[in-house]
Amino acid sequence: MPYKKLIFTTTLLCLSFGSALAQENAQALFASKCASCHVTTPPADFSKLTAPPIMGVMRHVKMHHKSKEAAVAFIVDYTLNPQEEKALCTTDKIKHFGLMPSQRGNVTQEELQRIAGWMYDNFPAASSSKKQCGTQQARQATPSPKAAPSQFLIASGMPHMTKLLMQQWDDSTLALTPDQKKKLLRVRQQTMQAVKRITPRIRGLQKTIIHKTMAGESPNTLEPMVKKLGQLKAQATNVHVQCIYDTKNILTEKQMAYLSR
Ligand code: HEC
Repeated sequence: MPYKKLIFTTTLLCLSFGSALAQENAQALFASKCASCHVTTPPADFSKLTAPPIMGVMRHVKMHHKSKEAAVAFIVDYTLNPQEEKALCTTDKIKHFGLMPSQRGNVTQEELQRIAGWMYDNFPAASSSKKQCGTQQARQATPSPKAAPSQFLIASGMPHMTKLLMQQWDDSTLALTPDQKKKLLRVRQQTMQAVKRITPRIRGLQKTIIHKTMAGESPNTLEPMVKKLGQLKAQATNVHVQCIYDTKNILTEKQMAYLSR
């Protein structure tokens, strides 16, 4: 599936020591208690998953629970007492993965509070939506001001197929055939590889330009770097365009219509 993992860790320059530690702590807890089933980065092969990736889980949780408090309460309760009637995951997902086994005994309520808060603060990544092959961005009237600047030249208006595809990978109406899935995974892999190659260069160059600008470097000296940055962003945009094109060629018109409904 053509979607790029372009989730960047936001570098927080002014994190206080205490909260940085708490963050790390919750992250470590998640890693030891939840990550055996819930991955935190989109996997190359969805068929190997035993549970929905955490950004998908959190997208659903945030859709249903507007405040952090309510979201955390839901997660804590669900993790200890999973029940199909409470689940926000679609029945499709539950059929596919089975109901989550209660984590009672594996994790305490207090640990869960911290894990859930961390999940809420970090997923889905603020910048992830606009960076995946389309998705979401065009739906948001105003992009979140916190989102990292896109590495694409066209930040909105591209069709959103990728995230929808990931969410509906096993949707029975979409009915992706095994052959389509294989092709989509290949497109996704190619896209990710290309983007992974370009993105760190864009990030690095942006940092350098910012740094030099603040250090008083002359615009003349910076100009070639800015030009290079433009080229790299154009490359990333081409990858995005290619990814959408390839995806459209794999899906039928009916499937496309269903995804863009
Ligand atoms: C043994 C595998 C496994 C472990 C370990 C696990 N989960 Fe899950 N989890 C699942 C599966 C499978 C689902 C999807 C089915 C469902 O929703 O019940 C799920 C779904 C969820 C959901 C979404 C519920 C919904 O449907 O709305 C949340 C929230 C969640 N897990 C939190 C956690 C947290 C927090 C931990 C760690 C403390 C954890 N999980 C550990 C397997 C696991």
